[in-house]
Amino acid sequence: MSTNPALDAREFRNALGSFATGVTIITTKDENGYVGTTASSFNTVSMDPPLILWSIDKRARALPAYEQGGHFCVNVLADDQMELSNRFARQQDDKFSGVDYKVNQHDIPMLEGCSTRFQCKTKYLYEGGDHMIIVGEVLDFDTSERDGLLFHNGRYAVSESHPELEACV
Ligand SMILES: Cc1cc2nc3c(=O)[nH]c(=O)nc-3n(C[C@H](O)[C@H](O)[C@H](O)COP(=O)(O)O)c2cc1C
Repeated sequence: MSTNPALDAREFRNALGSFATGVTIITTKDENGYVGTTASSFNTVSMDPPLILWSIDKRARALPAYEQGGHFCVNVLADDQMELSNRFARQQDDKFSGVDYKVNQHDIPMLEGCSTRFQCKTKYLYEGGDHMIIVGEVLDFDTSERDGLLFHNGRYAVSESHPELEACV
């Protein structure tokens, strides 16, 4: 709707939500233990070198862990992991309690049951207004047959083939 330079925050947020994304939990660690953040801002950057990015709110308690830690993992959630997404989106002290994970060689948690996991080394940090943009170099990844969880217009969703595709078969 907005043609006003002083964008209405709610309208802007809703407009951004029209772009469907997957859902990830980014994990790392700090001196107090493991840290995790639900994030839909994940995206691809470069094939060679292999780079990805995501952005984190500067108000997030977890921010220093990502700024200072050298490694993180992008856990791309499967469509049956909505509860896990909600858990890591809440401010709580032990997000990992009862969660199934193993750690990689850098002692970064890799969550079980995900669609895909990208093990990353932090490459660049950029200022992005009220967020920090974190660019990671992908050191390794693993994939599964699981469909990814989606987020669209402020709601979780599952993917389904477009009906016009089925009509073509
Ligand atoms: C579907 C979904 C996507 C989210 N995406 C992001 C994101 O990309 N970046 C971000 O900073 N917060 C995002 N959040 C909110 C964070 O998960 C939440 O603020 C954070 O986990 C709070 O934890 P902390 O302050 O204890 O670090 C998202 C939340 C949900 C439910």
